[in-house]
Amino acid sequence: METAVNYIKSKINDFLPEIGIILGSGLGDFADSFKSEAIPYKDIEGFESSNVLGHKGRLVFAEINGKNVVMMQGRYHFYEGYSMATITFPIKVLKMLGIKTLIITNAAGAVNKNFTPGDLMFITDHINFMGTNPLIGKNDETLGVRFPDMTKVYSEQLINIAENSAEKLNIKYQKGIYAATTGPSYETPAEINMFGILGADAVGMSTVPEAIVANYAGISVLGISCITNYAAGVTNNPLNHQEVIQTAEKVKLNFKNLLLEIIGRL
Ligand code: HPA
Repeated sequence: METAVNYIKSKINDFLPEIGIILGSGLGDFADSFKSEAIPYKDIEGFESSNVLGHKGRLVFAEINGKNVVMMQGRYHFYEGYSMATITFPIKVLKMLGIKTLIITNAAGAVNKNFTPGDLMFITDHINFMGTNPLIGKNDETLGVRFPDMTKVYSEQLINIAENSAEKLNIKYQKGIYAATTGPSYETPAEINMFGILGADAVGMSTVPEAIVANYAGISVLGISCITNYAAGVTNNPLNHQEVIQTAEKVKLNFKNLLLEIIGRL
């Protein structure tokens, strides 16, 4: 970790990031609009090169609306075969670089029948259905405690800022609970029915590992899901990745504007 942090610091000079953003499906090019320093994951010790469709795989540093921001352009997914340690290593590195706030974005399916594809959802809490936990293993006491509290992973204050930002921009939003599965297969209708009974509003294949580690390391988290589709069985339609990408593309401009507004208010 020290090697990674020192290497990054050598590339960004005296730039001190205060906000981290994980750019999920369809949002990757948010980072391209800023004059910035970019470091490919493959050049950073401990980062693996990301190879999922539509993801670039690099850290991008930029001043946005007066704030110093580091963006993860592409993230690691458990379904790609990466370990939980690999998936969450970047979060620990961002912590060492000094971020206080992490905005995690993702694409998710609607479990809640009142949601519509294209909605943005501010995550109020999560259900970890991945069957594992990124903190399993020897604990690093310098980062966080062995048994971290999880009652307030998603900061209410940040959700308020996000709501006010969305209202100002006239962007429709929802609030709800995100359930995470490993993927890569989508869920069955029976599983989605179960998630609904358990209290989930949306389902996806990311975010939870990063949120657990950020919370553990004392970073405030804002989670935003782009609802890209109805989850399995909510309608009769079969699911496909193309639909997910297409909806994310459609929402991109709103999502970008919302992020800019939120960053300005942090
Ligand atoms: N299920 C799981 N992950 C997803 C979905 C879904 O319906 N849509 C986008 N990511």
